Amino acid sequence: MEISEILKQGLGKYVNRGKYNLIHMVGNGHVVKFKRFGGMEFKPFSEHEYKIAKALYSLGISVPKPEGIFNIEHPKTHLIVPGFVMEYIPEKRLIIGGNYESALWSREIKEVRRHGFDPFDSGTDNVIWCPQRNRIYLIDFEGWELPKGYKI
Ligand SMILES: Nc1ncnc2c1ncn2[C@@H]1O[C@H](COP(=O)(O)OP(=O)(O)O)[C@@H](O)[C@H]1O
Ligand SMILES: [Mg+2]
Repeated sequence: MEISEILKQGLGKYVNRGKYNLIHMVGNGHVVKFKRFGGMEFKPFSEHEYKIAKALYSLGISVPKPEGIFNIEHPKTHLIVPGFVMEYIPEKRLIIGGNYESALWSREIKEVRRHGFDPFDSGTDNVIWCPQRNRIYLIDFEGWELPKGYKI
């Protein structure tokens, strides 16, 4: 289904929140990440994160497929604000240490560094372990920068 069709289904249930953000479902297979207090002034931050996610995705790093920045009604303020829409990944908490999923995570972080990124704040809060897909996904790139000389 086209992303524009999915967005017409409206905002779905609450997924989780981070320090500054609020994540809700959109349709069955996507989420939107809003700033918790969600005003238009946050647009550059969402756009920055989308840009980083796109770069990582195009390099083959395991990240939820980024779809774009769309204006959506915020569940708290009811204002129409920009949100970063991406693929929804069913999540299980990552337990670190000597297991298969930690090894996948380390490998991904190594790949990220090899491409010249500095994986800012890449703690266990910012990784999704998905047992159904046997895969880990890196998330939350707000504090990241593109590597020097990186061409979009
Ligand atoms: N694409 C996604 N699919 C499923 N859950 C997600 C997705 N993105 C974020 N989440 C959930 O929302 C939480 C907060 O997201 P995050 O991007 O880390 O926000 P913050 O920048 O506020 O820390 C994550 O820890 C995770 O549980
Ligand atoms: Mg986070």
